[in-house]
Amino acid sequence: MPSMDPAGSKGSNGGPKADFFARKQRIAQQRKSLPIASVEKRLMDEVRSHDILIIVGETGSGKTTQLPQYLFNAGFCRDGKIIGITQPRRVAAVSVAKRVAEECGVEMGQRVGYSIRFDDMTSSSTRIKYMTDGLLLREALLDKYLSKYSVIIVDEAHERTVDTDVLLGILKSVQKARLGPINQLPNIDHTKANNGVVIDKENDSQRASSLNQCRGLKLSPLKLIIMSASLDARGFSEYFGGARAVHIHLEEGAGDVLVFLTGQEEIESVERLVLEKLLQLPEEKRKLKVLPIYSSLPSEKQMQVFMPAPTGFRKVILATNIAETSVTIPGIKYVIDPGLVKARTYSARTGMESLVVVPTSKAQALQRSGRAGREGPGKCFRLYPEREFEKLSDSTVPEIKRCNLSKVVLQLKALGVDDIIGFDFMEKPLREAVIKSLELLALLGALTEESRLSKPVGHQMARLPLDPTHAKALILASQFNCLEEMLITVAMLSVESIFYVPREKLEEVAVDNLFQMYVACVLAAVRQIRENVEQMGLHIASCGDDMLQFRRCLAAAFFLNAALKQPDGTYRVLSSGQSVQIHPSSVLFRTKPDCLIFDELVRTNHNYIRNVSRVDYLWLPELAPQYYTLKE
Ligand code: CDP
Ligand code: MG
Repeated sequence: MPSMDPAGSKGSNGGPKADFFARKQRIAQQRKSLPIASVEKRLMDEVRSHDILIIVGETGSGKTTQLPQYLFNAGFCRDGKIIGITQPRRVAAVSVAKRVAEECGVEMGQRVGYSIRFDDMTSSSTRIKYMTDGLLLREALLDKYLSKYSVIIVDEAHERTVDTDVLLGILKSVQKARLGPINQLPNIDHTKANNGVVIDKENDSQRASSLNQCRGLKLSPLKLIIMSASLDARGFSEYFGGARAVHIHLEEGAGDVLVFLTGQEEIESVERLVLEKLLQLPEEKRKLKVLPIYSSLPSEKQMQVFMPAPTGFRKVILATNIAETSVTIPGIKYVIDPGLVKARTYSARTGMESLVVVPTSKAQALQRSGRAGREGPGKCFRLYPEREFEKLSDSTVPEIKRCNLSKVVLQLKALGVDDIIGFDFMEKPLREAVIKSLELLALLGALTEESRLSKPVGHQMARLPLDPTHAKALILASQFNCLEEMLITVAMLSVESIFYVPREKLEEVAVDNLFQMYVACVLAAVRQIRENVEQMGLHIASCGDDMLQFRRCLAAAFFLNAALKQPDGTYRVLSSGQSVQIHPSSVLFRTKPDCLIFDELVRTNHNYIRNVSRVDYLWLPELAPQYYTLKE
C-alpha cells in the first residue's frame, strides 16, 4: 500500500511524505532490476515486427506488470488505443492492476484500470486495462473487431482455462478480420453479433459492408502477445502458425514459507492446526505469521500476503493453486507441496460438474517448486514419494477437456459460430461434452431445433454474464413475478458464497467486516444484473411473501438438478441417477425434504450438493414438461 499522506504536506523528514518518496524510489529500483527490464528494447522491436509473439518467462520475471508499461511508453496507445491484458483469475487482474497503477503513480481507473465481472474500474482515460479473459470474450460480442485495442496480451496462457482457450480462437480470427480482405474474414460470422442483434442469414452485401466498416475505421493490425510461465510454448506456437517465442530468465527473492493446499476448508483447518501447535511452543518461538490466500477471500484480506511480515516474524502462506502462477508473493524461500489440487471435472455421462481433489501434474509440481528461493537457495518439500512424482501426468489437462461447456457454447453461438465441433479450438473439447451442453441449452430453451440461438430466450441468456441455468432462472422469474428475489439469489450464487465460511467463525468474521464486504459484493452484482435485465426489457417485480411462487420458479429453472430423497436419507439426482447428499453446511441438512433442487455438486469424500431448495415433486412434470414427460 502506498503510504500516501492525505492530510497534505506536514510530513517532514521521516514523515509519511518521506515514506512515500522512499517507497517510490524503491519501486523504481525494483522495476529496473527485474529480469524483463534487460530485454525491454528487444521486446518492443519484436512486437513492432511481429503481430503474434509468445513470451515465456518464469513467474516473477516482470511479464505481467512491466510489459504493458513498456508498450505504453513505446507508443502503442497513440490515438487513444488500449492495451488489454487478460488474466484467468479475477484476483490477479485486480492485484496486478493495483500494483501497476502504483508503479505508474496514477490513480486506479485512470491510465491503469481493471475490469472484472461485477467490478469495472476503468474510465475513458484508461490505456492499460487488466481484465479476465471471460470479460474480453464478452467484449468481443459487442465489438467484433475489438477495435479499441492495439495490443492484447493473453496472460497465464499455460493455465489453459476454458475462457483462455476460447479467447485464443476468437482472437486468432479477430486478428485476421482486422487485416481485411473478404476471403480472410474469419470462420466466425461476426456480422451476426452486433450488440446481440443477430442477422440470421448473411449475404454478400452484409459481408462487404462489414468489410467496409473495417476499412472505414482504418483498423491497424491487432498485436497479440501470449504469455506463459511454463516452458512448453510449442503448443501455442504451432497453433499460431509458428509464432516466435521469447524466453526471459530470472533469478530472484527469499525468506518465507508457501504451502499449497486444495481449498478454503483445508486451508482453514491447517491454519487452526498451526496456531494450536504454535501455542505449544515457547513464547519466543511463536514468531510465525499465518496468512491464507484463496480466491473467495475478499481482496483486502488477500493483499495481506503481499505485505512483509512484522520484523522478526516469518510468514507462512497457506494457498490454493492460486499462488502457482497467478500471483507472485515476494520473499518465498520454502515451498511445501502435498501434490494435490482441487480441479473442476465434468462427466459428460452424467452431465454433472464437480470439484474433486486430484494429484497435480508434473508441470504443476515444477511450477510450485519454482516459487521457492529466488534470491538465495530455496527448498521445496514434496510430501509424496519420488515414484509418485514419476507417475504424475506431464501437464495439466486443459480445462476445456474437463468442464461443463454450456456457457462457452452459448457464447460461441452468440458470436455466430454455428458449428461448435468444427470451431478452430487450440485443443478440441470432448465431442460428448459439446453434445451434452447443446442438449442442456436446448432443454433450457436457448436453442432452436436447428441448433441456432432461439429468440428471444437464447439471445437474452447469452447477454447475461452468467451460468446459462442462472440466466434462464432470471428470464423465468420475470414471468413468475419474482425477478426481484431471483436477482438477489443469482447474485449470491455468482459471488463467492459466504456460506463457505464455517459457522463457528461467522461471528468473528462479521467483526472483520467480511460480511459487509460480502453484502457489498452481492449488491454490486445485483446492480449490474439488474441493469442487464432492465435493458432486456424484463419485467421486474417482487412476489412478496409468496415463497411458493418463488420456489416454483426455481424448480422451473433448475429442473435438471432435481433430486429425490431415498429411504436411507441420501438423494438420487433424477437426471443422472447419481447418489448425493446434502452438504452439512446447508440449512436443509437436517430437514431433508422429499424433493429438492440444487445449484452445485461438490465431490470430496462424498457427493455433496450445495445451495439447495425444497420443491414439490409434482411441479417437475408441470413446469419442465420438455424433460419430465419423457422421463416419467
Ligand atoms: O508476470 P510475472 O510473473 O513475470 O511477474 P510480475 O507479476 O510482473 O511481477 C514482477 C514483480 O513485481 C514481482 O517479482 C513482485 O516483486 C512485484 N509485484 C508486487 O510486488 N506486487 C504485485 N501485486 C505484483 C508484482
Ligand atoms: Mg504474470
